[in-house]
Amino acid sequence: MTESRIYNFNAGPAALPLPVLQEIQASFLNFQGSGMSITEVSHRSKWFDDVINDTVARTKRLLGLDDRYSVLFVQGGASMQFCMIPMNFLGKGDTADYVNTGTWSTKAIKEAEIQQKSISVVASSEDKNFAYIPKDIAFNQDAVYCHITSNNTIKGTQWAQFPETGGVPLVADMSSDIFSRPVDMEKFGLIYAGAQKNMGPAGVCMAIIRDDLLDRVPEDIPTMLRYSTFAAKNSMFNTPPCFSIYTVWLVLKWIEDTVGGLEKMAARNDAKASLLYNFLDNSGFYRGTAAGDSRSRMNVTFRLPDEDLEKRFVESALKNGMGGLKGHRSVGGCRASIYNPTGLEAVETLVDFMKSFEKENG
Ligand SMILES: Cc1ncc(COP(=O)(O)O)c(C=O)c1O
Repeated sequence: MTESRIYNFNAGPAALPLPVLQEIQASFLNFQGSGMSITEVSHRSKWFDDVINDTVARTKRLLGLDDRYSVLFVQGGASMQFCMIPMNFLGKGDTADYVNTGTWSTKAIKEAEIQQKSISVVASSEDKNFAYIPKDIAFNQDAVYCHITSNNTIKGTQWAQFPETGGVPLVADMSSDIFSRPVDMEKFGLIYAGAQKNMGPAGVCMAIIRDDLLDRVPEDIPTMLRYSTFAAKNSMFNTPPCFSIYTVWLVLKWIEDTVGGLEKMAARNDAKASLLYNFLDNSGFYRGTAAGDSRSRMNVTFRLPDEDLEKRFVESALKNGMGGLKGHRSVGGCRASIYNPTGLEAVETLVDFMKSFEKENG
């Protein structure tokens, strides 16, 4: 590891691959011989055109997307998608299903309700404090879409397999696990993800939309809230977040060219998560909070015997070069976010530290 950098277990914004940061640094003053920084070139220039077009091309290759899908870059974070989705797809008489698996799903549901759209919450894991992913869900066959959160960043749960909806397109918030594993895109009408966890800095949200949903977008909603505006103009109806898109491009190059694609990315992520969960399972001191079959490979949530120990654990970890281990403020406890860029070495170092902390305090 580069001197003075720590192992970063933040939930988002989160760690980026070191080679990506180094490439940003090396080309920051003069991007590809332009004599300008990427933050200074016009978004209408060939330099930026090449960046955005190759980001789209790499997204399509990595996820195996065919021509029915458009790759869009929208601002307003994943939170803006919560409101855009019902606004764009639910007209008079239309209805949609939602599965509630925690804070982010709850927020998505609320944004549909604010607009007085007709939606049904067809399953929820609220009865057990969102510690599991619901099974055997009865979906409404007349729903325009079914919304799920593929990985629940706060509660540390993740859909291991996506549900069978009987043909209703899934709309998925993949903010915290996009590009972490291969996905069968046939099931999805839309996936979206704020970039700041698995693929870049904050400031851009990727939305991948299939043409059958794009065709539903009405004309009577504001221009900048229509998916069709972004699709028609290659996400450049107005000035896009150029630096964020550029960084996503570098991260996708890293996943495709250095890691070797999503199968390999998933294998790396599985190895990291298994190491940490095996350790937790064999410890009488630490306790994982997510149900066994619903565990996230991205956000590993756990508790120590009491809150005072948790506080000391987080502080002591930081002194030992490991940051971001405090659980989300709404749930407490501890959380290690181990997104794509996090290497196995970081998790090995964390597990060693956890063992010695247990020895001293157990
Ligand atoms: C799963 C999930 N969805 C949505 C959000 C909100 O994203 P944004 O801050 O980009 O609006 C987060 C942020 O942490 C998240 O983890």
